[in-house]
Amino acid sequence: MTRTHTIRIHHRQTGQYYTVEVPEDRYILQTAENQGADLPFSCRNGACTACAVRVKSGTLVQPEAMGLSPDLRDQGYALLCVSYPRSDLEVETQDEDEVYELQFGRYFGKGKVRFGLPLEDD
Ligand code: FES
Repeated sequence: MTRTHTIRIHHRQTGQYYTVEVPEDRYILQTAENQGADLPFSCRNGACTACAVRVKSGTLVQPEAMGLSPDLRDQGYALLCVSYPRSDLEVETQDEDEVYELQFGRYFGKGKVRFGLPLEDD
């Protein structure tokens, strides 16, 4: 039998909390929507980062998350539309475009480019 995990999702922009039950062979986003969660998404295939969350606790796998760099995966970000749970999880939605900025902002954007160095506060 497929194991099922309890996923707690904090949608920070709307202030909503959702608790959903997701089997290990189901995508978290779609299963959560089927259980009444109203969450951000766009492409639904791991390319755009609209559905990105920060994982606060627990483990998931996201082999199809091509929109997310290995660095950001290591930092605990995940694309819910292509994530499968591997334990109970607690996640929260990103700030708008947070993941996009982290991935591309320093290459195309504003301000100073500092590869590999933490940004100072000022
Ligand atoms: S909705 Fe586009 S990456 Fe998940």
